[in-house]
Amino acid sequence: MSASAEERRERLVDLYREVQGCTKCPLYETRTKAVFGAGNADADLMFVGEAPGAEEDRQGLPFVGRAGQLLNQMLEEIGLARDDVFIANVLKSRPPGNRDPQPLEIQACEPYLFEQVRLIEPRVLCTLGNFATKLLTGSPTGITKVRGTPQVHDLGGRTVFLLPLFHPAAALRTPAVKETLRADFATIPELLGRPLPGSAPSAEEIAEAEAGEDAPPPPPADQLGFFG
Ligand code: URA
Repeated sequence: MSASAEERRERLVDLYREVQGCTKCPLYETRTKAVFGAGNADADLMFVGEAPGAEEDRQGLPFVGRAGQLLNQMLEEIGLARDDVFIANVLKSRPPGNRDPQPLEIQACEPYLFEQVRLIEPRVLCTLGNFATKLLTGSPTGITKVRGTPQVHDLGGRTVFLLPLFHPAAALRTPAVKETLRADFATIPELLGRPLPGSAPSAEEIAEAEAGEDAPPPPPADQLGFFG
C-alpha cells in the first residue's frame, strides 16, 4: 500500500533535516544555508531549477531572487501560487560565484532530488534550464531543442509528465526567451488535467467526457503548508 500524504510529508521533513547537515560534496564548506526546496509537500506540480544563488543561500529558500520573482509572476498568470507547487533544485548548496554545477556535485546531490520526487508524487514536473532537464530526462539533449514538449517518464517509481522549460534567469536576460517561457507556462493547466498514460480515468474525468466538456483546470492540490 502506498504511503499516506501525512507519512510522505513526515519523511520529507526528515529528508529536509538530512540535507541541512549534508557534507557529501565540498559545497557545504562555502554555503550559508542549504536550500532543500519549499512548497506544497503533496503538490501535483513540481519545479526543479539548477542551484541556489546568493539570495537563496542567504534565506535558505529556493527562487527568492529576481528569477524567483519571474517564476511567481508566471505562476500567477496561470492561476497558481507558490503554495500550490513544490520548488526544488538539482543542487541544494550554492556553487561559489554561481558557477555551473559540477558532475560530482550533481552525483552527490541527485539522490535527494529523486527522493523528493518520490515523496511529493507530482503529476507534472517542470525542469527549469539545462541542468535539471538533462538530469531528469536522462538525455544530453539541450533545453532549446526539448522545451515546451511534455515527455513521459518514470520518476520516483511513478509515471510523470516532464515538461522542460527555459530557466527564468535566461528569460530575464532575453525578452524572446521570456515570451517562449510564458507560452510554455500557459500549457501547464491542460497538462495537469491530462490523464497520465496507463492510469485509469477518474469518475470525474468519465463524467466530463460523457458531458462532452473540456476538462477544467484541476483544483489546487491539498494544502499541507510545508514550510509555510
Ligand atoms: N536559480 C535556480 O536555479 N534556483 C534557485 O533556487 C534560484 C535561482
